[in-house]
Amino acid sequence: MEAFNKIDGFLEEIKSANPADAEALETFRIRFVGSKNVLKGLFGEMKTVPNERKKEFGQAMNALKQAAEAKYNAVKETLEAASDASARQDMDLSLPSPPDPQGSRHPVSIVMNRMIDIFEKIGFVVAEEREIEDDWHNFTAMNTPADHPARDMQDTFYLKNSITNLLRTHTSSVQARVMTTQKPPIRIIAPGRVYRNETISARSHCQFHQIEGLYIDEKVSFADMKQTLLYFAREMYGPKTDIRLRPSYFPFTEPSAEMDVWLGTDTPATKKLTKGTGWLEVLGCGMVDPNVLKNCDIDPGKYTGYAFGIGIERTAMQNFNISDIRLLFENDVRFLQQFSSVI
Ligand code: PHE
Repeated sequence: MEAFNKIDGFLEEIKSANPADAEALETFRIRFVGSKNVLKGLFGEMKTVPNERKKEFGQAMNALKQAAEAKYNAVKETLEAASDASARQDMDLSLPSPPDPQGSRHPVSIVMNRMIDIFEKIGFVVAEEREIEDDWHNFTAMNTPADHPARDMQDTFYLKNSITNLLRTHTSSVQARVMTTQKPPIRIIAPGRVYRNETISARSHCQFHQIEGLYIDEKVSFADMKQTLLYFAREMYGPKTDIRLRPSYFPFTEPSAEMDVWLGTDTPATKKLTKGTGWLEVLGCGMVDPNVLKNCDIDPGKYTGYAFGIGIERTAMQNFNISDIRLLFENDVRFLQQFSSVI
């Protein structure tokens, strides 16, 4: 019978087919498995088959369809396994693994975090405040008279169309914020960014960071301050570090001092950083001026206190041998990546 012969013919063809690559397999798929495959044409032959053999013909058709699908799936699997194996052969297992990209901390943050740790160990609590301040907290409360040169437009960034709102010029503004909202004993450190209208160069910038310290209680003395600052210097710069306090002036402290740490002049870097003196200036400090306490409604007859303000950038530059302060604000990843191994 013609129709049965056709089935046998296709079955033979399917059995002997041997697609060797993906392209040959695709040709096989289109001919025998796809939506317009040749087997479908055989349905038209059904009417030529006598009734008593129609069932048999249907079964033969099914068997043919299954044979085509089974062949297609088997070859497909074999070809895929072969291509996986050849991909594995191309893989060089002795190569080092690709680098694992790791973030890094900014050198300013590294130094700031280290300083915060040092002061937290002896009971100081972090206080963070606004960078946009008003004249009162930044200057007036801090006993800085209206005609003081620090208020000069040259130093302070005032907000547009405002003579009272400004970018804080020091973290001492946080002293006023804390003293007007908390009662003694007060023991805070205030890390943060400050702004001054200065010409940008390798050594100075119009933005930088400070950590303010403030301790107010009954009977706080200059000796307490000196001991705290000596502890800080030795934790920060090494256990044998020497410090010296030089008399200085700040409107909000009396007496006032500046603290230097001894780095020596042994290396070209320390020589340069200390301008050949061996001493690095790291902070300003002093006993809180009674006027400041009064301005903030704290009784200067009952309480005394000390305050200090540490510059961060200079220490970061000394720590990591950075010769230009501008690098700290450009955020060039090639620069920042160099600190990924430091915590
Ligand atoms: N605010 C001072 C400055 O920016 C530093 C300072 C803080 C001095 C606290 C004394 C007490 O230079």
